[in-house]
Amino acid sequence: MRDFDSWSRHELDAVEAALEAWVPADAPAGLGEAMRYGVLDGGKRLRPLLVLAACTALAGEREAALRAAVAVELIHAYSLVHDDMPCMDNDVLRRGKPTVHVKFGEAQAMLAGDAMQALAFEVLTPDTGIAPALQARLVALLARSAGHAGMAGGQAIDLAATGRSLDEATLRDMHRRKTGALLQASVLMGAACGQPDANVWRALTDYGSALGLAFQVVDDILDVTQASATLGKTAGKDIDANKPTFVSVLGLDAARRHAEDLRRQAHAALARSGLADTGGLGALADKVVERES
Ligand code: IPE
Ligand code: IPE
Ligand code: MG
Ligand code: MG
Ligand code: MG
Repeated sequence: MRDFDSWSRHELDAVEAALEAWVPADAPAGLGEAMRYGVLDGGKRLRPLLVLAACTALAGEREAALRAAVAVELIHAYSLVHDDMPCMDNDVLRRGKPTVHVKFGEAQAMLAGDAMQALAFEVLTPDTGIAPALQARLVALLARSAGHAGMAGGQAIDLAATGRSLDEATLRDMHRRKTGALLQASVLMGAACGQPDANVWRALTDYGSALGLAFQVVDDILDVTQASATLGKTAGKDIDANKPTFVSVLGLDAARRHAEDLRRQAHAALARSGLADTGGLGALADKVVERES
C-alpha cells in the first residue's frame, strides 16, 4: 500500500456504504431507527480497517472481507449500546450524540443491540459469494471473540471489578477479553480471507494481541487526558465509577510506556510475518497508540 491516508479514505467510504445498505431502516416498531442510530454516522471504524488491511496484506477475497468488516463493526456497535446502558456504565454520550437508551429508551436499546448482533452473523452467511468453509471460519472467529471467552466475558469481569483493585495480570486479562479479542478477531478475519500459512497466522495473532491490548490501555489513558468534546463520550468516567484501569493500576507514565511497548511488539510481529504489504497494519498500530480520541 503506497498511501495509507488515501487507502483508508477509500475503505471508510466502502464500509460506510455497506453499513448504510445492510442495517435495515424497516425493522418494526422503531427498532430499525434505533439500530441505524447506534451504527451509522460516527465511530472511527478501526475494526473494519483492520479486517481490510489484513485482507490486503494477504491479497485475500474482497467481498468476504467487506462483509467481515461490517460484521465486526456491528458487534462492536452493539457492545457500545449495551456498555452505555444504566445497568452497565450508565453513559449518556457516545460518538458525540446522546446514547441509544437516552434517545430510544432502555428496552429498545437492549433490542437494538440484540438485533445488531444477529445481523452481524446474517451478513457473514450470504447464499452466494463466499465459500461455505470461509463463512464458517469467519463466524467462528467472530463468535469466539464476542462471547464468554472474549468481549462478553471481559465485560463481566469489568462489572465484577468495579470498586475493587485488580493486579496487573488480572487487569490485562480483562482488557484482552473485553476489547482485545474483537480487535484481534478483526485482523484474523481479514487474514482468513486470504491463504495464510502457519507462520503468517501466528504472527498476525501476535500482532492482533499486542494491538488489542494497546487499544484498551490507550482508552484508559484518554479517559483521564482528554475532554468529552474530543472523545465524543464522557471523559473521566473510569475514576468516577471507580473502575480499575491501566492508569489507576500503573499510573499515567507507566501506562504510556506500556502502550509504546505494545506498539513495538505489534510491529515486530508484522516483521515476523514475512508478508510484503503490511503498510496498512503498521499504520493502524501507530494510529491506535497515537490517537487522541
Ligand atoms: C470504544 O471503542 C470502546 C472500547 C472498546 C474501548 P472505539 O474507540 O473504537 O469507539 P468508536 O467505534 O470509535 O466509537
Ligand atoms: C468497553 O470498555 C468495552 C466494550 C466492550 C464496549 P469501556 O467501558 O472502557 O468503553 P468506553 O470507554 O465506554 O468507550
Ligand atoms: Mg465499560
Ligand atoms: Mg463504557
Ligand atoms: Mg473506556
